[in-house]
Amino acid sequence: MKNIVVLVSGGGTNLQALIDAQKDGRLGSGRITAVISSNPDAYALKRAENNSIKAIVLNRREFPDIRTYSEAMRDTLISEKADLVVYAGFMTILDETVCGAFENKMINVHPSLIPSFCGKGYYGLKVHEEALKKGVKVSGATVHFVTAECDGGPIILQKAAEVMQDDTPETLQRRIMENCEWKILPKAVQLFCDGKLSVRDNKTYIYE
Ligand code: GAR
Repeated sequence: MKNIVVLVSGGGTNLQALIDAQKDGRLGSGRITAVISSNPDAYALKRAENNSIKAIVLNRREFPDIRTYSEAMRDTLISEKADLVVYAGFMTILDETVCGAFENKMINVHPSLIPSFCGKGYYGLKVHEEALKKGVKVSGATVHFVTAECDGGPIILQKAAEVMQDDTPETLQRRIMENCEWKILPKAVQLFCDGKLSVRDNKTYIYE
């Protein structure tokens, strides 16, 4: 069994999708062993508690800078014996302290088709606001490996969703979560846990 540690900061609907997938046997040989939140008030913590999953708060505000926060995160992930680290709505950019220790073992879900609407400053609703401002007709979600470059690691899965003329950032966010994120994130986790992914030259190859 592979130990999956999920990092969260907010509502945790992607964490819920992973919990549901685990219950249905869709996480392959992985199981969620801990949830770590950067925010003590995140509803995601309640979801962990409701499902008897160990919940840890590593409050970003209690650390003076990213370096000390990243070191604490690395130490926690090591003591939790994480085989896979999943960013599920985790809003802090960790530095190479963590990315180096867990190279090709951390994945992130991002609510756009990378390389559009990604990188520093593009998170949560902001991503959908920018997509609507630009007038794109298609958006979607991406699951990728995490590297020190924000949203720049090898892409694992992507799924597109149509943008409607009367969309608000909220309606677009909801469609992309439901139709894209909640599907490709559990699938990518399953592929990882079943050893079906390999990375070469910044590209991910899937062997099913
Ligand atoms: C999700 O849409 C996720 O893709 C996004 O934040 C939302 C969190 O929702 N993540 C980012 O923007 C990271 N750059 P959730 O807490 O309900 O899963």
